Amino acid sequence: MVEKGSEWVVMATGRSPTNIAVIKYWGKRDENLILPINDSISLTLDPLHLSATTTAAVSPSFTRDRMWLNGKEISLSGERYQKCLREIRRRANEVSDAEKGIVIKKEDWERLHVHISSYNNFPTAAGLASSAAGFACLVFTLAKLMNLKDDLGQISSIARQGSGSACRSLYGGFVKWAMGNNTDGSDSLAIQLAEETHWTDLVIIIAVVSSKQKETSSTSGMRESVQTSALIKHRAETVVPARTLKMEEAITNRDFASFAKLTCADSNQFHAVCLDTSPPIFYMNDTSHRIINLVEKWNISEGTPQVAYTFDAGPNAVLVSPNRKTAALLLQRLLFHFPPNKDINLTSFVVGDKTILQDAGVTSMKDIETLEPPPEIKDKVPYQKFMGDVSYFICTRVGSGPKVLTDETLALLDPITGLPK
Ligand code: DP6
Repeated sequence: MVEKGSEWVVMATGRSPTNIAVIKYWGKRDENLILPINDSISLTLDPLHLSATTTAAVSPSFTRDRMWLNGKEISLSGERYQKCLREIRRRANEVSDAEKGIVIKKEDWERLHVHISSYNNFPTAAGLASSAAGFACLVFTLAKLMNLKDDLGQISSIARQGSGSACRSLYGGFVKWAMGNNTDGSDSLAIQLAEETHWTDLVIIIAVVSSKQKETSSTSGMRESVQTSALIKHRAETVVPARTLKMEEAITNRDFASFAKLTCADSNQFHAVCLDTSPPIFYMNDTSHRIINLVEKWNISEGTPQVAYTFDAGPNAVLVSPNRKTAALLLQRLLFHFPPNKDINLTSFVVGDKTILQDAGVTSMKDIETLEPPPEIKDKVPYQKFMGDVSYFICTRVGSGPKVLTDETLALLDPITGLPK
């Protein structure tokens, strides 16, 4: 290692999106390598609204690997972090910075320590897949710092070992996690089905549902399902293989009706597997069920799907509509049934791409109060409102994959000290 003064710090910063599965990953065949029992398919969400940003730095002055998440130091001793770090170091290559006069040799990476700082642009506590964006970003950024030559698919199989769903966040657009067959996991990786530009009309609205309940983690939930559910076997062996093919076809053809039917059916079956687990796991709550009812009623009254819904290991609803017009009608319905508490303002109640609000004709809190009941429930008095049951809505779209951020002002670590800014 050539050192021009020993106090140098070399850094890389990356940003990675989160993703929402429309064909769910639930169940591992190998807990250690995080190998799934079925393929899954996801949409990458726009990083502008939901992403992790990570800066990774290396310096001879660092005495141990350290990490900060949203400004707070966290332990890197967990097996999942250790595996990712080990695997990236193993594949690291020489890095030279001519300007700073630094050369880091391939073998130097084994003894040099890193500092990592990561930040989510959405509340971690909201129960939105923060581990997917987080591990994808950690692995992507360290791979840049250590100059890995592997392709994104290979990088995704490292991220998979941090958290299964993270591997799908290595690509933008529409992504499949191929379960693979190899026992070493080498073919269990993400594949991009289509770029985000393939189907740009889709609008995604996430209802962040208020919940005081502490949910079972995905990791232990799926372990219990594999151990106790008979339905999960049928799902993985018979249902998902056929459904995955149909979903790929629906995405290729931008066939929203098929896409919506498959998405809703898969979410419902995943939650049925949770109920079939002993003891049963309840991720959705009354608000989630009300959102399903609202969408189903509307879809049935129109005779063709207007919206698709999907729920992960928590009560939040992710709703996909085929275009802005339908998204505006959906937002009107959601705001009608789930108005905000009195003390909330519109700016914090609907976040992300707020332009959908204008399309929905809602520009003030007053507009929410005066929304008419949607036609499909108009005759069915009394209709109920559930004030405060949705904490807020995020309007977003399908987005791009991880990116390196070259603007140094966006780095989360100080370029001199290598500590959080
Ligand atoms: C319901 O990826 O969080 O969101 O691999 O144990 O870290 P681990 O689990 P995780 O599980 C995600 C489950 C899901 C469905 C999905 O994203 O496919």
